[in-house]
Amino acid sequence: MEEHKRQVLSFVRRMGRVRKTQQYALENYWDDWVQKSTDGPFEYDKKQQSALVLEIGFGMGQSLIVMAKAHPDTHYIGVEVHRPGIGALLHHAVKEDLKNLSVYAEDVHDVLHHALADHSLDGVQIFFPDPWPKKRHHKRRLVQEGFASLLAQKVKRGGFLHIATDWQPYADDMLEMLNKHTCWQNRAQDGGFCKDAPGQREETKFEKRGQDRAHAINDLYFINQATR
Ligand SMILES: C[S@@+](CC[C@H](N)C(=O)[O-])C[C@H]1O[C@@H](n2cnc3c(N)ncnc32)[C@H](O)[C@@H]1O
Repeated sequence: MEEHKRQVLSFVRRMGRVRKTQQYALENYWDDWVQKSTDGPFEYDKKQQSALVLEIGFGMGQSLIVMAKAHPDTHYIGVEVHRPGIGALLHHAVKEDLKNLSVYAEDVHDVLHHALADHSLDGVQIFFPDPWPKKRHHKRRLVQEGFASLLAQKVKRGGFLHIATDWQPYADDMLEMLNKHTCWQNRAQDGGFCKDAPGQREETKFEKRGQDRAHAINDLYFINQATR
């Protein structure tokens, strides 16, 4: 099982310019919107939303906002540490008056370990995780065997793990690891990448960047087979 006290982080806190609307949102909406894993178990109104989906590293939040708008009966939890992105998400969440979105602005390991109960999630989506291309940095990659086991513990049996990436070596490594993992079953019958991943995935900033560089985009879609 994954060690909780991680020495190696899967992110660097990119600075990036904070736009006026993002700064306004960070200053004015943070207290009402951003939850802390130290505050205790995550709760949401199950009468309003029947499913719970976690998005890890939502970046500027483009796809998360569109999904939350399109599926009012699903509650989305977005986790991100990049402040301009959190500001952008808060700006749009308030503008769209979204009632089915919650935000954590911290390392997802803390959220998973402290705030989310086992078998509580219907799905997890990770779009364009940092590829950490250099071999000596591979240990910083978010999606590794221990993390896949932790996700299998938090996702219900039959729930999904949807990952997209434009970095072929990372895509190949994740595919090999997940295909061997005892908890996760590949939705693609041939054990390859998923060509028809269910659910809507809007183009994200990092997907566009990958396409501009002529990178192939691969989706991985796995179903949790773990028995309690
Ligand atoms: C390459 S960006 C992709 C962002 C967005 N999904 C997109 O496609 O444009 C990866 C994001 O994951 C976030 N991230 C990486 N590790 C994380 C962690 N352990 N907890 C929370 N966020 C993390 C980073 O801050 C970064 O914004």
